[in-house]
Amino acid sequence: MKREIPNAPHRRQFLKGIAGGAALISGGTWAGFKALAQNPPSCPTPPAGGTVFKAGQDTRPIVERLSISKLSSSQLAELQKAFAALRALPSTDPRTWILQADLHALFCDQCSDDKTQIHGTWSFFPWHRAYLYFFERILGSLVNDLNNFRLPFWDWENYRSMPSPYRLPASTSNSLYDPNRYSVIASGGNLPSSDGTTSRIKVLDGITDFATFGGTATSGGACESNPHDLIHDDVGLQTSPWHDMGNLGYASRDPIFFAHHANLDKLWYNWNALSSSHPGEYENPTDSAFLSLRWSFYDYNKQLVSISAADVLNFTTNLRYSYPTPVYYNTSTSAAAPEEGVAVTEQQRTAPEITTYSARLVYSNSRPGPIVDVTYGVKVSLIQAAQQHKTVLMVLRGVTLPEDMVGAYDVVSVHGNSVKHLGSVAVVGHDMHMHTRKLAVVLDATEALEDLFDSSKPAFITLVARQGGARVPLNAEDIELRVLSSQ
Ligand code: C2O
Repeated sequence: MKREIPNAPHRRQFLKGIAGGAALISGGTWAGFKALAQNPPSCPTPPAGGTVFKAGQDTRPIVERLSISKLSSSQLAELQKAFAALRALPSTDPRTWILQADLHALFCDQCSDDKTQIHGTWSFFPWHRAYLYFFERILGSLVNDLNNFRLPFWDWENYRSMPSPYRLPASTSNSLYDPNRYSVIASGGNLPSSDGTTSRIKVLDGITDFATFGGTATSGGACESNPHDLIHDDVGLQTSPWHDMGNLGYASRDPIFFAHHANLDKLWYNWNALSSSHPGEYENPTDSAFLSLRWSFYDYNKQLVSISAADVLNFTTNLRYSYPTPVYYNTSTSAAAPEEGVAVTEQQRTAPEITTYSARLVYSNSRPGPIVDVTYGVKVSLIQAAQQHKTVLMVLRGVTLPEDMVGAYDVVSVHGNSVKHLGSVAVVGHDMHMHTRKLAVVLDATEALEDLFDSSKPAFITLVARQGGARVPLNAEDIELRVLSSQ
């Protein structure tokens, strides 16, 4: 049974919309697109065609995207003005706020089929990069600053609460405000202490192949579920239908979406940057099936532009923005989160040395999750590594989650009364066709090794819903263990 979210648009409404909307459709792509500006949006065919983007056509200066915490007061004022201008565009304009927001809905399970779905696949990173690029140009042009306006990022790994310009004043007079947010986050509370941390980023730096990090044609990467989905779920309303950030059909109606995604885009770039010291690793796919992925967006001049995944890879040259040099900031994850405006300590960022060990998952009907089976030699090496304060990762591939799973889940090992947190997995409302998509999950097993490898009664691994605490079985096709040593 496919999950239905109350009040959420879905394909059936799309079909109805087509049948009853002949007048709109006859106007071509734009008329169909315009039909989106409803709550809930219907789902016309995504924009297609347009001028083909050519590398080198954007000749603006290369300008750095900044952390929101680093914006000057005039840059902040410009950002607010740009969002206000976007919201004020008439509904007949293809650049208008709600249509831009609903464009995202066309590419998630809300509206798309397996062919256009860009979540849970390797399209995830390049599609959002392209979406942000055109969105940034529209905002820039609306404040007559196409050349220099760039989207800021919310670096949640450093700033654990939602940046105040997006929260205050908490009224629609603030163009960056959105009323549909979880109350704790909306009032300036911190993200859950394990979500989107520097430690999580370091764990992901232990993944050197794009397939596991960013997905394949048919499966989602580890970074998409955690931290991407997790922070969506943390910020959105905590109950069905999870508006806005917690539901992909509505997520980009919250301006924080663009700051969240700029940070993920930065994370992708930071991951790629590790390849300079490790050639052949941390690199993007070179398959033509990936490079030729192509989507159309409305540019600031209302013209449709078609852009490919290949076009967005070299974003500095082609899309004219850059990010600050990759660094780790303060390494403490939960407690010492810097307050806004307080300087954080920068630390050199380098790729870890990685040793990989094979393992096997063993399932049994008598347990609510698999145990991890390794040879005696592997067990000894891993426990030694943990004693030497190295990190031991558990890399799961081909993970399938129950179809109706939505929200944030923790992955734990259970050994009698000892329950150890290994990591988290999240699904945003209407994210994926869960029955067809698989994903990679990367966990930190360092603290749980003794439990996992107890020879008389090894711990099993399971998912626990953060809301309600229900245990959900975890199923993976393949497991591998990795020891990371920082250099
Ligand atoms: Cu298209 Cu953060 O989702």
